[in-house]
Amino acid sequence: MSVFNWKEDYSVSVPSIDAQHKKLIGYINQLYDSMKIGNGNKAIAEVLEGLTLYTVIHFHAEEQLMIQFKYYNYPSHKKQHEDLIKRVDDFKKQFTQENHKIIFELAEFLKKWLINHIAVTDKVLGKYLQAKGVI
Ligand code: FEO
Repeated sequence: MSVFNWKEDYSVSVPSIDAQHKKLIGYINQLYDSMKIGNGNKAIAEVLEGLTLYTVIHFHAEEQLMIQFKYYNYPSHKKQHEDLIKRVDDFKKQFTQENHKIIFELAEFLKKWLINHIAVTDKVLGKYLQAKGVI
């Protein structure tokens, strides 16, 4: 059973962005699952790499839409993305130096970050894009 479930509440009204958020939630659940079944460092590192890569892809996709549609809040939204990537990099360094306990912390951090970011920042962007006709 997933620890982190998608809810309609998380929708930002732009299906392509919702699909990407669902995929990110899937990666976060994979991290929880890896810990639950006691996977080794190598397997966890692979999930972590997938999640990190997909986060960059997702942020890039959102940022391209912001540029294309001249989003007024682009700089501060992009800054939130950059800060998150920096935090994840810091976690990853600790993971290689320490071990598993940091992964639980990372999964919890990402879960809270994503919920808050979607609920506020991405929803504002979603409304803007929807008004511009992006579906
Ligand atoms: Fe969905 Fe702004 O990240």
